Amino acid sequence: MSTIDERVEEVLGKMTLEQKCALLSGKTPFGTRDFPDLGVPAMEFSDGPHGLRHQKDGANHLGIGGSDPATCFPTAVTVASSWDVELAGRMGAALGEEARSLGVGVLLGPGLCIKRSPLCGRDFEYFSEDPYLSGKMAAGFVRGVQEKGIAACPKHFAANSQETRRQASDSVLDERTLREIYLRGFEIAVREGRPKSIMSSYNLINGTYASQNRRLLQDVLRGEWGFEGATVTDWGGSVDHVSGVKAGTTFEMPAPGLDSPRELAEAVRSGRLDEHFVDARAREALHLVLESAAALEGADPEFDRDAHHDLARCVAREGVVLLKNEAPAGEGDALLPLRPGTRVALVGDFAQTPRYQGAGSSLVECTRLDTLLDVVGERGELDLLGFEPGFTHDGSDDAACRAAAVSLASGADVCVVCLGLAGGQETEGAERRDMLLPQAQVELLRAVRSCCDRVVVLLSCGCVVDTSWSGDCDALLYLGLGGQAGASAAYDVLTGSANPCGHLAETWPLSLEDTPTAGCYPSDGATAEYREGIYVGYRYYQSAHVPVAFPFGFGLSYTSFELSSARIAQWEQGRPARIEVNVGNTGDRAGATVVQAYVAKPEHEVFRAEQELKGFSRVELEKGESTTVSIDLDPRAFEYYNVGTCSWEVEGGRYELRLGLSCEDVRQTLGAELKGTGAPNPYAGRELPSYGSGYVHEVTCAEFATLLGHAAPNAIAPLGRSTCLRDLNRCRSLILLLVWLVLEGRHRQGLKPGNSPDLDVEFAYNMPLHAIAKMAPPVTMGVVDAIVREARGYGLVGFVPALAIALLVHGGVGVFAVVWLAWVLVPPLGALLVGALRNVTFARKLNLHGKAE
Ligand code: BGC
Repeated sequence: MSTIDERVEEVLGKMTLEQKCALLSGKTPFGTRDFPDLGVPAMEFSDGPHGLRHQKDGANHLGIGGSDPATCFPTAVTVASSWDVELAGRMGAALGEEARSLGVGVLLGPGLCIKRSPLCGRDFEYFSEDPYLSGKMAAGFVRGVQEKGIAACPKHFAANSQETRRQASDSVLDERTLREIYLRGFEIAVREGRPKSIMSSYNLINGTYASQNRRLLQDVLRGEWGFEGATVTDWGGSVDHVSGVKAGTTFEMPAPGLDSPRELAEAVRSGRLDEHFVDARAREALHLVLESAAALEGADPEFDRDAHHDLARCVAREGVVLLKNEAPAGEGDALLPLRPGTRVALVGDFAQTPRYQGAGSSLVECTRLDTLLDVVGERGELDLLGFEPGFTHDGSDDAACRAAAVSLASGADVCVVCLGLAGGQETEGAERRDMLLPQAQVELLRAVRSCCDRVVVLLSCGCVVDTSWSGDCDALLYLGLGGQAGASAAYDVLTGSANPCGHLAETWPLSLEDTPTAGCYPSDGATAEYREGIYVGYRYYQSAHVPVAFPFGFGLSYTSFELSSARIAQWEQGRPARIEVNVGNTGDRAGATVVQAYVAKPEHEVFRAEQELKGFSRVELEKGESTTVSIDLDPRAFEYYNVGTCSWEVEGGRYELRLGLSCEDVRQTLGAELKGTGAPNPYAGRELPSYGSGYVHEVTCAEFATLLGHAAPNAIAPLGRSTCLRDLNRCRSLILLLVWLVLEGRHRQGLKPGNSPDLDVEFAYNMPLHAIAKMAPPVTMGVVDAIVREARGYGLVGFVPALAIALLVHGGVGVFAVVWLAWVLVPPLGALLVGALRNVTFARKLNLHGKAE
């Protein structure tokens, strides 16, 4: 037993039931409860995935308001484009160090939800559409953070794919899709990174909230994958903490007041909940709290800001993806890199106001911010003719801005145009409505092109956009969201001091209509049906032969690479485990590339995608150099999840191992004959034509039901605790209808052209009633139940007694109104009072009253 284990047992032995229960929910927006007499300090959580957002007073969990300055590293989309697991680890370690300096015990990241649709507002926070790449990057990140003693907290577990109704959306999907696509990344991160904590998601999975999902939190996470840490709900994501604790939720966050601990203790005393569940969770909690406290002892309140800025620049540089590099008309050489002395016109507002991160809980107040305009000016290698913003963000004066940009560009050798999405378009809490760049930017590019023969586009956004305008440029560099040093990184690549080596971690489709979830994402009903099944991203485009703008894994370089002599270097348990391939740099400068290994089974019985990424390796080579690259394959490289046997199986027969530089650019293919595990095809005799062919664009209800094994649940849920505020128009209450009208009006305001969604409004709009009790103490679940009754028509019923009394006492409208209001208000106010009184008693028992509370 370690010292921490002993200490945990000692403290646990001294804790009363009330104290154990109180430990399991937050006391402040980001802190746990402290028990000074027992030597248990409070522990602090902090976002997030690409920088510390250590909140100042008055700020909220959506990033609204200030936080302490911290390094803003590139967001996950850019980190993933590096395909560099070790680099993700270095970034994680820097984040761990900054967390220590701020007294933060748990860093709320990485985010590794699968990118199901390009419209998801949080895509910039997630790594990839592919679970293997997501899992590997996450594992590297977790190891880095934890190297500093700080706990990482991969999120959001699981099948959390949309912001619309995010706290109450029920993700309906078949078990194979869940296992192979939505859980696999977490499985890799847990098995290889061993995170000390995990955040459950807001949504339900097949009818059960993630925070109450025993199968996921206990059976799969702890039972199958060996997770030994603590789990935490997303902020306001707890529904019923008694069920949560039983299912495996350790901490409920943020600070729901004393209701939850009281209810937990009451559940134990009444025999509804066995105390061993509370003990198990309290043990996990104490472990994390005490371990974090030990890690924070003697922490240096400073970190090396310059070194972290340089690291941020390095990550951003490695994540830049060169999507296009052609020779301008009539010239022999590709446009990039730009030669010293090139007369450059810099166009596009992002050159002076960079887009470098997204909005929401991951928003970082950076320690400093590079801009391309400054960097180009300071370095002096390029001859900067001038800068013009070219467009406005509110569309007010686009024509004049465009004209000025055109006039500048016409005198330049090269025009560098900085395009991207506006900040409000990529945010937690709201989806994008299309995949388009703002029209003013597309028009700017066209106008610049008409007067300048050499055009480079630098594109800043954290998600896929339509690139039908790319014919108007000779070179296109995708920067993702590069963090505070992103502009310097872009400059390095532009001028060739760095050779671009990023590869897309996500397919860029030609249009939104081509995506597998087109027309049904985001779901506006209570359920989100994952009808596309396993066909997410390239798994769909390749299986269904849908042409794309840029394939998964794609990325050009200023040099070129050759692959040869691929071979299977190692077999384990009758399956290839390691491949080797010779890689040569055949161009005239040093560079790096990513060799990707895809597994395919051309002849198969059990439906499967055309091919799947099962290994990769990044390699750096001097010009003319060649080397042997080893790729360790995913231990599940040849397995699929069998819904009949409820386990991972191998279908026997011939497999192909395809090695290439993108999923479409396959350079070497190896064959391997494998013995199967002999499990019967679970789909035999079932009508699943779309899944057989991969054309899952229009899966019918019947076919989806066949895949699920039962009919999908009703998309309209009855009024209850999980009813979202946006659905209050369905209720039978004048008061709640009024609330809905106000909220709906403010929501629509944010949708108007030129406006950005107001995150506080969006949060409330998509919030279920039960979340009010979790986010706004002293509101209790009793109050929520009173609101639910009101929504179902309780207030209308009150007209009868109000009218009767008014008539009886000949009181008129005044008496009617008073009686009716009393009828409506007494239940919630009564519940509030009862809750408050019970909590006072509980606080006394807890011995916290007037002390820790
Ligand atoms: C987000 C989480 C975040 C938490 C705390 C939630 O709204 O979904 O990703 O960690 O807030 O800020």
